[in-house]
Amino acid sequence: MGSRILSTGRAVPRTCVSNRDLEMRLDTSHEWICSRTGITQRYVLRSGESLVEIAAEASRQALQRAGLRAKDLDAIVAGTVSSEYAFPSFACQLQRALGASLIPALDVAAACAGFVYALAMADGMMRSGDWKRVLVVGADALSTMVNWRDRSTAVLFGDGAGAVVMVSEPGPKGVLKSVLRSAGELWELLSVRATGPRCAFDDEAVRDAEDAIRMRGPELFKIAVKSVEEVTREVASGAGVDLSEISLIVPHQANLRIINAVMERLGLDSSKVFTNIDRYGNTSAASVPIALDEAIEANRIHDNDIVLLNACGGGLTWGANIIRW
Ligand code: ACO
Repeated sequence: MGSRILSTGRAVPRTCVSNRDLEMRLDTSHEWICSRTGITQRYVLRSGESLVEIAAEASRQALQRAGLRAKDLDAIVAGTVSSEYAFPSFACQLQRALGASLIPALDVAAACAGFVYALAMADGMMRSGDWKRVLVVGADALSTMVNWRDRSTAVLFGDGAGAVVMVSEPGPKGVLKSVLRSAGELWELLSVRATGPRCAFDDEAVRDAEDAIRMRGPELFKIAVKSVEEVTREVASGAGVDLSEISLIVPHQANLRIINAVMERLGLDSSKVFTNIDRYGNTSAASVPIALDEAIEANRIHDNDIVLLNACGGGLTWGANIIRW
């Protein structure tokens, strides 16, 4: 028995911040941000807004499209590093917001690879038999963890949530294989302390350098390209799929140059990748499910297509899922 994605949903906060808006508060330019990252705008949480509510909106959309109610779910798995509480978990807060039954609800913390990890975990549990209908969410709000005076990180991140409803199903469709990797020894390339205060875009307080996201961007860039290329090849060959058979890659949207470099190294045409980083920035664990939802909406995914999801993030963590749609 395998697992299949039955439906998807997405939601973002209502505040959209353009590169031009950032020019007003930072020593940066639209041209720099656009040419180095591909980002033109991002959505950010304002002070007092809740990421759980955004995730609930994405989840309700996915549930409605699946023709299911929250009470029909057997489990909730949330890929996130943005819970406002050490406990309850983000998934438990989401369970309450949705009014789901007394089901297991748990978080998977893998930063930007959070959704790819969460999907693999849900698929594994569904194969082992107990879970039949699972809500898998990717949600993050890294804009509340940057120092808004640090131009090297403040321009990169946006907030949001994507959700999928997975159902267990016999037959050739669904998740064919997942490969997950991590390298804890590289943790210092990208990190943020768990204890720092939230500082939203519109807050007067600024997260100080010690507590804010710290990133060694150029080193991370090189490792991201190499590791995502490798894991993409590995998951495809593990599933017995030739790279040429892949219909669409839906990657984590951290940097358009990373995405393009990976596609080039894989020898795949840019028409085989879905990107939306221009409008969202790096939404961490939310980026893959938001992009997946948009790809479906744009009619880029069809019955029986081979779709590949990949991501790399803080930890370091990286991974890929390959799916027959
Ligand atoms: N505006 C203008 N100039 C800037 C800005 C900015 N916002 N930020 C940095 N600069 C300057 C730097 O100060 C530097 O100036 P200098 O040459 O005078 O010293 C110059 O631009 C080049 O800086 P670099 O950091 O070398 O720029 P780079 O081309 O590497 O781009 C970036 C930086 C976009 C961060 C890139 O390295 C990157 O995308 N790295 C990978 C990010 C990633 O993959 N993250 C993983 C997922 S995220 C997660 O898990 C949460």
